[in-house]
Amino acid sequence: MMGVVAPWRWLLALCLRLLFLVPAGVPVRSGDAGFPKAMDNVTVRQGDSAILRCTVDNRVTRVAWLNRSTILYTGNDKWSIDPRVVLVANTKSQYSIEIQNVGIYDEGPYTCSVQTDNHPKTSRVHLIVQVPPQILNISSNITVNEGSTVTLRCLAAGRPEPAVTWKHFSGKSHRFVSDDEYLEISGITREQSGQYECSAANEVAAPAMRHVTVTVNYPPYISDTRNTGASVGQKGTLRCSALAVPLAEFQWYKEESRLSSGLEGVRIENKDHMSVLSFFNVSEKDYGNYTCVASNKLGNSNASVILYGPGAVQNRSSSASTTLAATCLWCSILYSLMKF
Ligand SMILES: *[C@@H]1O[C@H](CO)[C@@H](O)[C@H](O)[C@H]1NC(C)=O
Ligand SMILES: *[C@@H]1O[C@H](CO)[C@@H](O)[C@H](O)[C@H]1NC(C)=O
Ligand SMILES: *[C@@H]1O[C@H](CO)[C@@H](O)[C@H](O)[C@H]1NC(C)=O
Ligand SMILES: *[C@@H]1O[C@H](CO)[C@@H](O)[C@H](O)[C@H]1NC(C)=O
Ligand SMILES: *[C@@H]1O[C@H](CO)[C@@H](O)[C@H](O)[C@H]1NC(C)=O
Ligand SMILES: *[C@@H]1O[C@H](CO)[C@@H](O)[C@H](O)[C@H]1NC(C)=O
Ligand SMILES: *[C@@H]1O[C@H](CO)[C@@H](O)[C@H](O)[C@H]1NC(C)=O
Ligand SMILES: *[C@@H]1O[C@H](CO)[C@@H](O)[C@H](O)[C@H]1NC(C)=O
Repeated sequence: MMGVVAPWRWLLALCLRLLFLVPAGVPVRSGDAGFPKAMDNVTVRQGDSAILRCTVDNRVTRVAWLNRSTILYTGNDKWSIDPRVVLVANTKSQYSIEIQNVGIYDEGPYTCSVQTDNHPKTSRVHLIVQVPPQILNISSNITVNEGSTVTLRCLAAGRPEPAVTWKHFSGKSHRFVSDDEYLEISGITREQSGQYECSAANEVAAPAMRHVTVTVNYPPYISDTRNTGASVGQKGTLRCSALAVPLAEFQWYKEESRLSSGLEGVRIENKDHMSVLSFFNVSEKDYGNYTCVASNKLGNSNASVILYGPGAVQNRSSSASTTLAATCLWCSILYSLMKF
C-alpha cells in the first residue's frame, strides 16, 4: 500500500494513527457531545453490501474511515487496496463508505475519525456479518442389525452458529430425538428405523434440512397365517405372512418333507411379506398340518397352517358368522386329523 502513497500521505497517516488510535493521553471520546455521529452497529448478510455512515458538519476539517487500525479512506483519498471498498458520500453533513460483497473477515470494529477545530474525535461501529444456516455434511444412509449402536452426524455452519436438531419420522408422526450435531442410538430397535431429519437453524434465514435413512434388519416374525378349508377336487390355498428386514424367504413343509412349486399339484408364490401355497386339485391326502418357515440372514421362524376338509363349512363365505366359522374351524381340524 505504501508504495503508491505520496510522502505527505505518510505523514498524514502517521498523524491519524497518533491522533485517533493511541488512546493514552489523547482526548478521544466516542459520541462526544453527540458528534461525530456514526450509526448503530451494522448487520449484513454475507455477500450483501454494507454502508457505514458518519454524520459530520462544516466545522470538520479532516475525515477518515478505518478498519481496525487500517485506514480505508481519508477524505476523497482511497487508502485501501480492496476494490470492494468505495466512497459513497463526502459532503458537508455525511461521510460514508460502502463495503461490497461483505465476507466474514470484514466483521469487526470500524472507526470514523474526524478533526474539528483541531480536536480529533472518533466514533465506532461494529460490522456484524450473518450467514444463513447450511448443512455441510451429513451421515450417509445406513443399514444395521437390530441391537447395534448407530451414530449419525450433521455438520452445520452459519453465523450466528446454527442450532442443530434431529427428528425421527416413522409413518406420519415425528418426534425430536436430539438437539446436538451427533445423534447416538444404542441398541436400535426396528421401530427406530426410518427417516431422520437434521435441521440447522439460526435467525438469518429458513432452516437448512437434510435426511438420512436408517434401515434396521431383524429376523422374521410370522404375523399371520390362515387355516383354510377345501373339498376334494377343489382348489385350496394356505397363506403365511412374515415381517422381516430384509424380506423373508419362505419354505413350506408337510411333516418332514419340503414342498416344491410345480410338484405334487402345488404351487408356491411369494410376494413381499406373504407366501401362498396353492393346491390345484385337493385330494384326501392333502389335508393336514403344514409348516411355513420364514427366514432371512438374521434367523428364521415357523408356524403351522392347516388345510382341513369337509364336514363343516365348505364354503366359508363372508355371510357365515365368525363364531360359527371359528367353531367349525376346530371341528374340521379334528376331522382332518382323524383322517391320518
Ligand atoms: C455493537 O457491537 C459490539 C460488538 O458486538 C457490542 O459490544 C456493542 O454493544 C454493540 N452496540 C450496539 C449499540 O448494539
Ligand atoms: C478489515 O480487516 C480485516 C482484518 O485485517 C480484513 O480481513 C478485512 O478484509 C478488512 N475489510 C475491509 C473491508 O477492509
Ligand atoms: C462427510 O463426512 C464423511 C464421514 O465423516 C467423510 O468421509 C466425507 O469426506 C465428508 N464429506 C465432505 C464433503 O466433507
Ligand atoms: C437415502 O435414502 C433416501 C430414501 O430412502 C433416498 O431418497 C436418498 O437418495 C438416499 N440418499 C443417498 C445418499 O443414498
Ligand atoms: C382332480 O383329481 C381327481 C382324481 O385325481 C381327478 O379325477 C379330477 O379330474 C381332477 N380334477 C381336475 C380339475 O383336475
Ligand atoms: C401342527 O404341527 C405342529 C408341529 O409340527 C404342532 O406344534 C401343532 O400343534 C400342530 N397343529 C395341530 C392343530 O395339531
Ligand atoms: C420350527 O421352530 C422350532 C423352534 O421354534 C424348531 O425347533 C423347529 O425345528 C422349526 N421347524 C422347522 C421346520 O424349521
Ligand atoms: C355355500 O354355497 C352354496 C352354493 O354355492 C350356496 O348356495 C350357499 O348359500 C353357501 N353357503 C353359505 C353359508 O354361504
